[in-house]
Amino acid sequence: MSRVHIPVLAGELIDLTAPAPGETAIDCTFGAGGHARLVADRLGPAGTLVCIDRDPAAERRFDELAAEVACETRFLRMDYADGLALLADEGQEADIAYLDLGVSSMQVDARERGFSYSYDAPLDMRMDPGQELDARAVVNEWDERQLAQVIRRLGEDPHARRIAREIVRRRRRAPIETTGELVEAIEAALPAAVRRSFGGGHPAKRVFQAVRIAVNGELDSLDRALPLAWSVLRDGGRLAAISFHSLEDRRVKRFLAARARGCICPPDFPVCVCGHEPEAELLTGRALAPTPGEVASNPRAKSGRLRAARKLGAGEAA
Ligand SMILES: C[S@@+](CC[C@H](N)C(=O)[O-])C[C@H]1O[C@@H](n2cnc3c(N)ncnc32)[C@H](O)[C@@H]1O
Repeated sequence: MSRVHIPVLAGELIDLTAPAPGETAIDCTFGAGGHARLVADRLGPAGTLVCIDRDPAAERRFDELAAEVACETRFLRMDYADGLALLADEGQEADIAYLDLGVSSMQVDARERGFSYSYDAPLDMRMDPGQELDARAVVNEWDERQLAQVIRRLGEDPHARRIAREIVRRRRRAPIETTGELVEAIEAALPAAVRRSFGGGHPAKRVFQAVRIAVNGELDSLDRALPLAWSVLRDGGRLAAISFHSLEDRRVKRFLAARARGCICPPDFPVCVCGHEPEAELLTGRALAPTPGEVASNPRAKSGRLRAARKLGAGEAA
C-alpha cells in the first residue's frame, strides 16, 4: 500500500529558505508536494511556484495541489537538471530553489515499481517509467566489473565483488527478473557471519540503493543541477538541498563551500592576489539532521541532511 510521503526536515527547510509573499520558488523534486504546499502557502497569491519531477505520479499530485493553492504554479515533468536548464534558457529567475533528493514513500511503497527489497516485484526502479534503462538491464546486462563498481561506489558496499560474482553466476542460468531473486543472490553471496552482522538492517539495502542510483543517473543529475539552480537565483536567493546518503551530501557540501570561499590563492602566498570574493553565505555550518522526535514519527527521515546557502548580492561580500 502506498503511504503518503511525509516531508522531511520541513520546518527547517521553511526557516532556512524563508519564502515570502510574492517570491518565486523552484521545487526540483515535487514528490507528493509536502514541501511545495508549505512553500506555496507562504508565497501567497502574488508568488510563483515552479515544480519539477520526472515521475508521472508526481504530476497527478501536482494537479491536485495547483487547484488548492493561491500562488501561480507550473509543472515540468522531466529530470530536474533538464528542467533547471530550461528555466535558465527562458531567463526565469527565482528567490528560492530546493531539492529533496532520492525517492518518495509513494515510489518505494508501490510494489510493482521494484524499488524495495521488502516486496517481490519485477526489477524496475525507474523514477520515469518512460526511461529505457531499468534495474533488470543493469542487473542482467552490465558486466561483472561494472556491477562491482556500481555496488561499491554507489552503495558503498564492502562486499561488492562477491555480490557481483554471485549475480553473474546466477544470471548465466536464467535472468534475474525480480527484486526477490536479487535479494536471494545478495544473501547467497554473503557468508552467514556477515549476514548476521547487519542486525536490524537488511543485507540488500546498499545494493538496492546502488542499482537505483545507477538506473536513474542520480548523481549526474545532481552534479548538473546544482550550478543551474545557483545560476537562476537572484541576489539574496536561497538554495537548499536535503540528501539521504553521503554521496549526495558530499556533493552539496562541496558545491556550497566552493561558492562561500573567498580568497583562492595557494596557502603559501603571503598576501591575497586573486581578489576572489565569496558568492554565498552558508546558512548551515554543519548539515542539519532531523530531531529524534521527527525520526520517531517518520523513521524514513533518519538519514536526511539539510544544507542551505544564500546568494550574496554585489558588494555584499566585502
Ligand atoms: C524525496 S521525494 C520528494 C518529496 C517531496 N519533497 C514531498 O514533500 O512530497 C523525491 C522526488 O524527486 C523526484 N526526483 C528524484 N530525482 C529526480 C530527478 N533527477 N529529476 C526529477 N525528479 C527527480 C522523485 O521522482 C521523487 O518524486
